Amino acid sequence: MTRHFLRDDDLSPAEQAQVLDLADAMKKDRFGHRPLAGPQTVAVLFDKHSTRTRISFATGIADLGGQPLVIDAGSSQMGRGEPIEDTARVLSRQVAAVVWRTYGQERIEAMAAAATVPVVNALTDAFHPCQILADLQTIRERTGALAGLSLTYLGDGANNMAHSYLLGGATAGMHVRIGAPPGYQPDALILDKAATIAARTGGSVVAVSDPAAAVRGAHVIATDTWVSMGQEDKDERIAALMPYQVCAELLEHAAPDAVVLHCLPAYRGLEITAEVIDGPHSAVWDQAENRLHAQKALLAFLMESAS
Ligand code: CP
Ligand code: NVA
Repeated sequence: MTRHFLRDDDLSPAEQAQVLDLADAMKKDRFGHRPLAGPQTVAVLFDKHSTRTRISFATGIADLGGQPLVIDAGSSQMGRGEPIEDTARVLSRQVAAVVWRTYGQERIEAMAAAATVPVVNALTDAFHPCQILADLQTIRERTGALAGLSLTYLGDGANNMAHSYLLGGATAGMHVRIGAPPGYQPDALILDKAATIAARTGGSVVAVSDPAAAVRGAHVIATDTWVSMGQEDKDERIAALMPYQVCAELLEHAAPDAVVLHCLPAYRGLEITAEVIDGPHSAVWDQAENRLHAQKALLAFLMESAS
């Protein structure tokens, strides 16, 4: 059966743990796993900018014995209005999998519905599930565990990273807290879905507006840009989100050895201070490296499920 990874809850708790274990194994033996040998081609399409996602998928597909085909989707016929479904059918006849960074979640759902090969969400407006796999791998490396740990995300609680922390963190049995002001709180449907998952895994989810309360005792503090790709109301966002800046004073409320995450790119002096992102709590470079290992493991898992 063709499996897709369009949002974090497309993996069950057991499958998420399996992918993370495989990611650790692939990190230890980088060139020892070749499920894409042939080489099989994987199409990696971008409707938005990218550094990490582009590099880590291209490198990871090559590591797995495959061949990456990286395309700016705007320069394909999709950019001139060819239907997503027709593109999915054409790609499915030739490539082993499709990875796509795009805008609305409904676009990648349309691609998956018409594709007969695995489709992977490389970021949409709603979710960034590949990033969360890398983040979970990073947390596990630093702490030895996921279930039972508390993770606080501060900032735009309605963006793709916040939504993916809710679903992915709940799947891992974590206690996920979103600290965001009114108007920037998570989508209620996603919060509900995360709560349902957490009830099964022993985790919990909550959204609050007091930044110090959100951070209190947390083992992991995460943030993201206040202005995501495609958003324009920059000044308004900065004014509303300034009290949620991850800074040394706020970190004092967290667990003493708290791990600080940021998916990058970071804007020092806005969502996080230079002192914190460049300081001893920060795990952001491991996090960026782990995109490679986690996505390789995900692709191997999806290829295996499809065979
Ligand atoms: N974190 C992340 O997805 O980075 P890019 O936008 O550079 O791919
Ligand atoms: N929330 C950010 C993440 C970038 C990797 C964005 O969508 O632009």
